[in-house]
Amino acid sequence: MAFETIIVDIEDHVALIKLNRPDALNALSQQLIGELQEALESADANDKVRCIVITGSEKAFAAGADIKEMSAMSFADVNLSNLFAEFGDRIQDIRKPVIAAVSGYALGGGCELAMACDFIIASETAKFGQPEINLGVIAGIGGSQRLTRAVGKSKSMDMNLTGRFMNAEEAERSGLVSRVVPAKKLMEETMSAAQKIAEKSLIAARTAKEAVNRSFESSLREGLLFERRAFHSLFATEDQKEGMAAFMEKREAQFRDR
Ligand code: CAA
Repeated sequence: MAFETIIVDIEDHVALIKLNRPDALNALSQQLIGELQEALESADANDKVRCIVITGSEKAFAAGADIKEMSAMSFADVNLSNLFAEFGDRIQDIRKPVIAAVSGYALGGGCELAMACDFIIASETAKFGQPEINLGVIAGIGGSQRLTRAVGKSKSMDMNLTGRFMNAEEAERSGLVSRVVPAKKLMEETMSAAQKIAEKSLIAARTAKEAVNRSFESSLREGLLFERRAFHSLFATEDQKEGMAAFMEKREAQFRDR
C-alpha cells in the first residue's frame, strides 16, 4: 500500500506506524486519518502482525486535527462527515494491542489518538494537551471523555478549560501514560514492549484487552462477570495448556493461537 502521510513497517510480528507530516507537526489531516485507519485495519487483519505501535517524530506525536483544513468547515460539514468521531470509534474497534509511543507534542486530536491506543509510553519530552478551547471549540475525538477517565475530573477540566499542557512527569503521575523513558530510548523500550506482547498467545492478549476495555463500559459487577466468562473460556484453548505446561517444565511457552 502506498501511503503519503504515514510510514508502515512490519517486522518481527510488530506493525510500526509512523505519522509522517513533519511540516505540519503530524497534524491529523483527512488524508492522514484515512491512511491511518486503513493501515490499522490492515494490520489488524494481517496474520503476521501480533501488536501495533503508533508513533510520530521527535518533536511531535501529533499536534492535533489539521486546523488549516478545519478552519473553513461549517457545522453541516463536520456533522455530516462525522470524520473525527468515526475515527475514534474505528481505532477502538482494532482487536490487536496498540501502543502509542509519544515524543514531543500530543495535542488535541494527537492526545486523543494516543489515548485511544491501549497504552502510552512517553519520552521525557512529551507534552499532552487539549487546547481546542483556544480555537473556540472543544475536543472532538474523546478528549473530554478519555482524559477524564484517565486523570480524573479536576485535571481534565483544568486541561480542557485552560488548554494548558501536561508534561511527561505529570502525565505519568496522573496515570495518563504507563511509563516515561529517556527520549533516546523511546523506540527501543516501546518495541521491546511490543515484542513481549507479540510473544504471548494472541487469543489471550485480545481477551485481556477486551476485558480491560470492558471496565470503561460497565458496572464493576458486570465487568467482573465479563472477566470471569472470558477467563473460563481461555481454558478451552491449546495455548492455556501450553502456557501452563511450559511453566511446569521450566521452559519458554510456544503459543500457537489455538
Ligand atoms: N494543524 C495544522 N497545522 C499545524 C498544527 C495543526 N494542529 N499544528 C502545527 N501546525 C503547523 C504550523 O501551522 C506550522 O506550519 P507553517 O510553518 O506552515 O506555519 C508548523 O506546523 C510548525 O508549527 P509551529 O510553527 O506553530 O511550531 P511551534 O514549535 O512554534 O509550536 C505548537 C508548536 C505549540 C504545537 C503549535 O504548533 C500549536 O499550538 N499547534 C496547534 C495545537 C492545537 O491547537 N491542536 C488542537 C487542534 S484542534 C483538534 O485537535 C480538534 C479535535 O479534537 C478533533
